Amino acid sequence: MAEIQRVGVLGCGLMGSGIAQVAASAGYATIVREVSSEIIQKGRAGIEKSLAKLVEKGKLAAEAREAALQRLAFTTNTAELKTCDIVIEAVTEDLDVKNALWKELDALCGPATIFASNTSSLTIAAMAAATRRADRFVGLHFFNPVPLMPLVEVVRTVTTTEETFKRAYAFAQSLGKEPVAAKDNSGFIVNLLLVPYLLDAIRGLERGVGSVADIDKAMQLGCGYPMGPLTLLDFVGLDTTYKIAEIMFAEYREPKYAPPPLLKRMVLAGMHGKKSGKGFYDYSVTPPTVSSLGL
Ligand code: 3HC
Repeated sequence: MAEIQRVGVLGCGLMGSGIAQVAASAGYATIVREVSSEIIQKGRAGIEKSLAKLVEKGKLAAEAREAALQRLAFTTNTAELKTCDIVIEAVTEDLDVKNALWKELDALCGPATIFASNTSSLTIAAMAAATRRADRFVGLHFFNPVPLMPLVEVVRTVTTTEETFKRAYAFAQSLGKEPVAAKDNSGFIVNLLLVPYLLDAIRGLERGVGSVADIDKAMQLGCGYPMGPLTLLDFVGLDTTYKIAEIMFAEYREPKYAPPPLLKRMVLAGMHGKKSGKGFYDYSVTPPTVSSLGL
């Protein structure tokens, strides 16, 4: 088995930057590809903030933070990922966008390179089929915030070889994560269960079953969840959740995955959650206040 030394990450948003951070922190030379230097700057700032928080909390030594930053490189040129041993994709949840990148990289990377997608809801098979390395294609699904959440779903599709699966599983462990094996079903394990719950929280709000604050408080204090569902939606991103719901609904044709109208209205209004400054809560003030949604 070829050793993984160099990690490529496609995308420097919330997930991509988190994945790059954990790879660099685990000792891998890591190169991140994004479309513009503005997004790269935002991603790098997020990584610096996250590493600083870990140092502040005493979970990371200052020297380890510096070493991680030294191992990180950024580029807008996809070809710079051609010598990577594994490429992890965390770009927008759009199959055409993802597959255009995979096709480009398939022609550039050597035969031993593993391709891994962090997709939340698309199937790995739909990406593997766009390349000539369907046997070396897996899902590696991380959770937000990546530096803090221990889980990685390692997804094997119908064409993934045992060796590729084992290498990807061992790679997830080498990042300090806890892997679980999941079948290539839209949503894998976590989103299959989490997405209907989050969408039902919005439906509950639409029906007036409780206020934003009370729905969140109820699930936090009643079930011991670290965040209420509407806070979690803001955290994951309402635009991202909307795309995931559309993809899962198209796959399963079950109403529980259908995005509720309120979610669509909020996305149309640019209320994408914490990253845009406003979602179910308004983050322009500290502490955040409940947004007025005209309900
Ligand atoms: N790096 C990045 N973010 C960090 C961080 C770090 N080192 N340390 C803290 N945070 C973030 C928190 O999210 C929040 O952001 P803010 O300061 O910018 O407002 C803040 O820091 C809170 O920090 P605290 O120290 O008060 O919080 P805790 O450390 O106690 O817990 C948490 C934070 C681990 C996020 C906890 O609230 C939690 O477990 N929440 C649930 C998260 C969850 O369910 N994630 C899964 C989402 S689903 C998913 O990702 C799948 C996808 O496909 C949709």
